[in-house]
Amino acid sequence: MKILIVNGPNLNLLGKREPEVYGNSSFDEYFSTIKEKYPHVEFQYFQSNIEGELIDKIQECGFSYDGIVLNAGAYTHTSIAIADAIRAITTPVIEVHISNVFQREEFRHHSFLSEVCRGVICGFGLDSYRLAIESFGV
Ligand code: DQA
Repeated sequence: MKILIVNGPNLNLLGKREPEVYGNSSFDEYFSTIKEKYPHVEFQYFQSNIEGELIDKIQECGFSYDGIVLNAGAYTHTSIAIADAIRAITTPVIEVHISNVFQREEFRHHSFLSEVCRGVICGFGLDSYRLAIESFGV
């Protein structure tokens, strides 16, 4: 089983960025616990602040991986290009958010990605990623 985890803009700052919203743990710390928990899964982790790089990675893995867990950060609310990339591939994508975007500003309530993703998980902190991973039946 091969799963790609993709984090978009500003998620490289997890642990430092708005800890009251996103928590105190860096993604690397969290990712080590995930790799220990699912040793049989081949994970690839990719983070970029650049929209086109996220699209390149989705295209690269989107025909051969079993699942993609995507937190596109603020591009969730703006990017038709990422939505089109998800539409173009065959690997199912789960949209993930650490925070409950529906308890936040109105502009975070709309996602261009949800309609092309298999499902959406939001509001469970970093545990949102684990829930998305488990949805692939690992
Ligand atoms: C986020 C929510 C987005 O609205 C925000 O722009 C992010 C993170 C989340 O994980 O809660 O960067 O995707």
